[in-house]
Amino acid sequence: MAYLGIDLGTSGLRALLVSDDGVPIGSCSKSFDVSRPHDGWSEQDPNDWVIALEGAVRDLRDQYPAFQNLTGIGVAGHMHGATLLDDGGQVLRPCILWNDTRAQTQAAGLDNDERVRALSGNIVFPGFTAPKMLWVAQNEPEVFNKVAKVLLPAAYLNYYLTGEFVADMSDSAGTSWLDVGARNWSTYLLDAGQMRRDQMPRLVEGSQSGGTLRAELMADWGLAQTVTVAGGAGDNAAAACGIGAMHEGQGFVSLGTSGVLLAARDGYHPAPQTAVHTFCHAVPDQWYQMGVMLCATDSLNWLSGIVGKSPQALTEELGENLHAPTELRFLPYLSGERTPHNDAHIRGSFTGLSTRTTGNDMTQAVLEGVAFGLCDSFEALVAAGAKFDSLFAIGGGAASRYWLRLIATVLDVPLHIPTSGEFGAALGAARLGMVANGAMVGDVMVAPDIDETIEPVPEMRDVMRQSHAAFQKAYAGIKAIQ
Ligand code: XUL
Repeated sequence: MAYLGIDLGTSGLRALLVSDDGVPIGSCSKSFDVSRPHDGWSEQDPNDWVIALEGAVRDLRDQYPAFQNLTGIGVAGHMHGATLLDDGGQVLRPCILWNDTRAQTQAAGLDNDERVRALSGNIVFPGFTAPKMLWVAQNEPEVFNKVAKVLLPAAYLNYYLTGEFVADMSDSAGTSWLDVGARNWSTYLLDAGQMRRDQMPRLVEGSQSGGTLRAELMADWGLAQTVTVAGGAGDNAAAACGIGAMHEGQGFVSLGTSGVLLAARDGYHPAPQTAVHTFCHAVPDQWYQMGVMLCATDSLNWLSGIVGKSPQALTEELGENLHAPTELRFLPYLSGERTPHNDAHIRGSFTGLSTRTTGNDMTQAVLEGVAFGLCDSFEALVAAGAKFDSLFAIGGGAASRYWLRLIATVLDVPLHIPTSGEFGAALGAARLGMVANGAMVGDVMVAPDIDETIEPVPEMRDVMRQSHAAFQKAYAGIKAIQ
């Protein structure tokens, strides 16, 4: 038997084939674009996801004979996106993505209602799904009136694969329509968002079966046996499954387009006042909490675009050993920020530039700005009761030892680097496919081997603490004038 994990990311789709015992066989990635038609908007054509999925599957099928034994699929997706379908299952407009901030007024309106936070367990951030639908209702009523179903990106791929409208709890928790403690759609929240229950997909746990692969796809992909499609997960919950962060004390820091600090929780402990996100995990009776920064590697990518050097070249120029922070502070709020500020208006800045500032100082300040932003999330998570003895470090940015050493020192927590191989959302999704096919959560959702542990640098702790305080002061100052 073989399993397929699909990670629908913001910049591309990755498909990973694993064997019966969860060992990676091969993977394939396809990229696509984000369209930004106006400032703060971020959209994708769901058809691009399908093209990427089909391309990746074709490549895996051609390269790996084990594909013929496919028995389970799990899909992970970037969260919160609103994919609108009419009553014929056709996409009505481009999907509005997680990092789109157009629905600020609608989010603030929903968030003003105390019961909304109480039921959803979260602040209603502009990137969440409910405010986007209110924006569509107000700005594109002709589209809104035709909406028969709203699917998150992973659920849209589930629909493509199975023909069924089915979504998992972890992703659905990011809509502001789910009662996150009860793990069910909330009539109150749906009413507040002007939505109806029949417009929602059927809910399953991420590790439960959501349906089976459509006969047409079985034929196209050359498969004879039934293939189970799991409920799937939001990408962060799936990454937690891939890294084995299932219980209290286990978590990761992810340096991707967004920066995420995630803690698995054995119970439901909402703390919306901290701007921490509290969502269902992809397995029953578990939850997780995370702080989300909107621009982590995106901040470095931005600098890289400005100075014309690759992100890797920029970080390599710093060497591996930490430098003491200079006076230069970078606020990584290029698209606003979620945790801890819930502020879609704030924008990034450099403060403390001088005639002596070098290019390397700017790179260092960008990495520090992201580390300090993650530290704000860390403090918010600790205030919510999460504990961390250590964290796994994942995501593209984790390739920089300098950045990891900096983050370990700023958080004062050792960071584990997994042995090279698979441990991300695609593996987590494949594992969900395995559990939906009968495997046990405790047997498959395990931590990877540790290649190296990056320890905090004790002699830099104090200076980092002072610079973090200066970073927070810079935020207050910029906030006052923006
Ligand atoms: C989480 C979030 C992002 C996206 C994109 O709330 O918005 O992490 O899931 O990866």
